[in-house]
Amino acid sequence: MQKLVYKTYEQLSEAVAYKMVKLIIKKPNAVFCLASGSSPQLAYQYFTEKLINKKINYSNCTFIALDEWVGIPPTDSGSCHYFLQENIVKPLNIASDKIHYFDGLSKNLELECIKIDTIIEQNNGLDIIIVGIGLNGHIGFNEPGVSPDKKCHVIDLEDITINVGQKYFDQPTQLSQGITIGLQHFMEANEAILIANGLKKAEIIFKTLNAEINMQIPSTIIRKHRNASVMIDLDADNN
Ligand code: F6R
Repeated sequence: MQKLVYKTYEQLSEAVAYKMVKLIIKKPNAVFCLASGSSPQLAYQYFTEKLINKKINYSNCTFIALDEWVGIPPTDSGSCHYFLQENIVKPLNIASDKIHYFDGLSKNLELECIKIDTIIEQNNGLDIIIVGIGLNGHIGFNEPGVSPDKKCHVIDLEDITINVGQKYFDQPTQLSQGITIGLQHFMEANEAILIANGLKKAEIIFKTLNAEINMQIPSTIIRKHRNASVMIDLDADNN
């Protein structure tokens, strides 16, 4: 695992976008698993702009959502589906068979997990997984205490995740569970990138990099990944 620190959020986002584009140039049918949320948003903007400006062919790439809030419709602007649609799918005009989401409204969430597990398997695994980090160390919705051996699964969210998660929604929204890519998929991805910016993330980034690797801080598992980068801005760096 490498830690890469950038002076600004813009520089950090530029570097992430560069890695994403480089992957497509090397592997035109790359499989991306992408987080929603504030941290990767600018990187996605730079990524889509670069692909379009440089006329890079990304039509054979596959995109898979990292997670979703259970019970939230895709039309809700707070959903992960909506975020990826606005930030990746629409700007790149991605074909519907090249983007895969969890359906948070599904009556059978277990089947929803199997659906995404199967897509990952059929695509021979993830080439890259891009995640943010929660203040409790979650990656995706892998909350403290999660098993590292899980593929896609449904999980109860901690209060801190529910409270912080309100920032994505236009109005107070009842959240209780998430459906998410598991840590097994995370560890098996060919490359993992964790993005964090801002002073708020400094403490959890410090713990991620220095605490004993344990599932009370799920993000610590990244230190066991064979090809991972923790990419942060100066504010998130506590040394
Ligand atoms: C979102 C996700 C979450 C976020 C994390 C940080 O798809 O999986 O784990 O990455 O909560 O959120 P932001 O980036 O908004 O600070």
